[in-house]
Amino acid sequence: MKIDGKDMRTIWVESDGKSVGIIDQTQLPHRFVTARLKTLADAARAIQSMQVRGAPLIGATAAYGVWLALREDASDERLERACATLLATRPTAINLKWALDEMVATVRNLPRGERAAVALRRAGAISDEDVAINLAIGRHGLPLIEEIAAKKKSERVNVLTHCNAGWLATVDWGTATAPIYTAHDKGLPVHVFADETRPRNQGASLTAWELGHHGVPHTVIPDNTGGHLMQHGLVDLVIVGADRVTAQGDVCNKIGTYLKALAARDNQVPFFVAVPSPTIDFTVSDGVKDIPIEQRAAQEVACISGKTADGRIETVQLIPDGTDVANYGFDVTPARLVTGLITERGVIAASSEALSAAFPERARV
Ligand code: MRU
Repeated sequence: MKIDGKDMRTIWVESDGKSVGIIDQTQLPHRFVTARLKTLADAARAIQSMQVRGAPLIGATAAYGVWLALREDASDERLERACATLLATRPTAINLKWALDEMVATVRNLPRGERAAVALRRAGAISDEDVAINLAIGRHGLPLIEEIAAKKKSERVNVLTHCNAGWLATVDWGTATAPIYTAHDKGLPVHVFADETRPRNQGASLTAWELGHHGVPHTVIPDNTGGHLMQHGLVDLVIVGADRVTAQGDVCNKIGTYLKALAARDNQVPFFVAVPSPTIDFTVSDGVKDIPIEQRAAQEVACISGKTADGRIETVQLIPDGTDVANYGFDVTPARLVTGLITERGVIAASSEALSAAFPERARV
């Protein structure tokens, strides 16, 4: 996507050929800052601290993290330890494990002297594949928006999304946003309601920022607003991303997604999930029972950061001193509440039959 007219991805190899560049997403939307990852520890920290976040980008960063580790020491022990370190950074998004498995399978049987160079190429390919997948999700999701636009004549199509499943969450284009960008670029009158997405506010800070930079009309809404909008016919469809989709089509995504799916069902609003294939975990079936849900620091709920009137970034405490908080990062929307999955191979039902038919090479027998 473009930042101030310049084409940019969220992750790249720096011109020194030894380090990886990222956009430090903890600084957005008020400051655009890039950072350089030089070591495995840098990559692990970037994922853990959410300088990079979003399932596909976590996967791509982990892949480059393996390369950075192998540059220093290409032994089997180092490879194993690097993967264990990276895997421990965030437990829910399955793209992380998928990317690490890909890296291990690629370099495992190579002589040590070749491993780093091949790892670099595979990490680059994982990033390129992510971009191609998202473009395909955009193509397959476009007709969903076109159909509504045709029915509504010249009225705007209102899409509600949760968290940030935009280009900042991927290498480029985003998953949930790919159909939106594709529709907007085609001239369709698409408008996005972006849930603010407490506690970290990825919708308010990241989705709003990237839609604004691309010129897509959007409105940030408090997390509790979606149900009201749906009752009043103000949402035409919901498109969200996913951190993990099970073999039976249950969808794990940012906390609060489930509530939107319930509201969508109650109001007959189509609820679609944009799903790149590395997000599908064919090893688990019941998402509520089987997916580990990340719990993060209490600080994220207790405090909020923002820009003061004189332009400083400050963090303030919202709740009384000493109050207990719970900070579950994700929830699971059962397949029965999902209208369809927008994948790189087309829009399919959220069911084991449809998933294994679309991705037979990944499905378990
Ligand atoms: O905690 P985050 O910001 O990494 O959570 C991101 C999400 O929940 C996204 O919806 C998901 O990763 C899909 S990104 C294309």
